[in-house]
Amino acid sequence: MIISKHLLGLEGVQREEISLILKTAHSFKEVLTRPIPKVPTLRGKTIVNLFFEASTRTRISFELAEKRLSADSINFTTSGSSVAKGETLKDTVRNIEAMKIDMVVIRHQASGAAHFLTQCLDAGVINAGDGQHEHPTQGLLDMMTLQEKFGRLHGLKVAIVGDITHSRVARSNIHGLMTMGAAVAICGPATLLPRDIPAAFGKDLLVFKKVDEAIQWADAVNVLRLQLERQKHGLLPSLREYAMHFGITRRRLEAAKKDVVIMHPGPINRGVELESDLADSEFSVILNQVTNGVAVRMAVLYLKSGGEQEVVNGNGL
Ligand code: CP
Repeated sequence: MIISKHLLGLEGVQREEISLILKTAHSFKEVLTRPIPKVPTLRGKTIVNLFFEASTRTRISFELAEKRLSADSINFTTSGSSVAKGETLKDTVRNIEAMKIDMVVIRHQASGAAHFLTQCLDAGVINAGDGQHEHPTQGLLDMMTLQEKFGRLHGLKVAIVGDITHSRVARSNIHGLMTMGAAVAICGPATLLPRDIPAAFGKDLLVFKKVDEAIQWADAVNVLRLQLERQKHGLLPSLREYAMHFGITRRRLEAAKKDVVIMHPGPINRGVELESDLADSEFSVILNQVTNGVAVRMAVLYLKSGGEQEVVNGNGL
């Protein structure tokens, strides 16, 4: 299989490539349980993590994934860099590439920033979240977590609840899950749903107006963070009202009388989109998602650096 050296989003990525990334991630997860959780796979490669926007999980797990693969990692954050003096994104990355690097991981507040870098650089570009567009490694780690829990993605019913319009996590999950044959639904206030859903995601995406109906339907509920920093004013009457109508609570799960897996990409607004106790309950796989983030990012870095399936299945690990 020929795969692109970039990962900009899950829209348009073939089922075979997603399956290969997930299979490779499951292999790397085994590596992470070893007494010395490190392989020499990317020795000699240099990867730069460019984070123009805040991150805990994604930034640390990319850095950890690079170290577990024996790559050299460089971390860039806006504060303390010449971006503060007005240097452009293009100049910043071209100067970094001039120091001979192999791959760039970028998080940026502008949708399309990762794609823009592919026009400026020869290095591979991995999107770690760009504005409201996509967060492909989050979509992949969510799919890996669902595979572990249910043993399959095909036919699984996944409801994504909350602020769909502003969510790159929702976009990557919808594209990835639908490609893998899952049934996907969205649910949220009308002001936080995309205007033309069939045009954006195709006619198979289901929409629930009531969160209780979404829970009743779903095998897993992926609860999104309310992205207050990206929202215009006036989209919600109040956080209290949002929590009352769309917050996921134990009472709602019990009323549905079925086991539902609860996911959240983090960071959680506890007590708003998700009841605090439920986030830490037997229903939650939120920390499994975080653990799987390291394995998924190892798989992406490895495959996008030219790694081959045979190496994953053979002696390379
Ligand atoms: N899920 C996620 O992207 O979290 P961070 O913003 O902490 O990286």
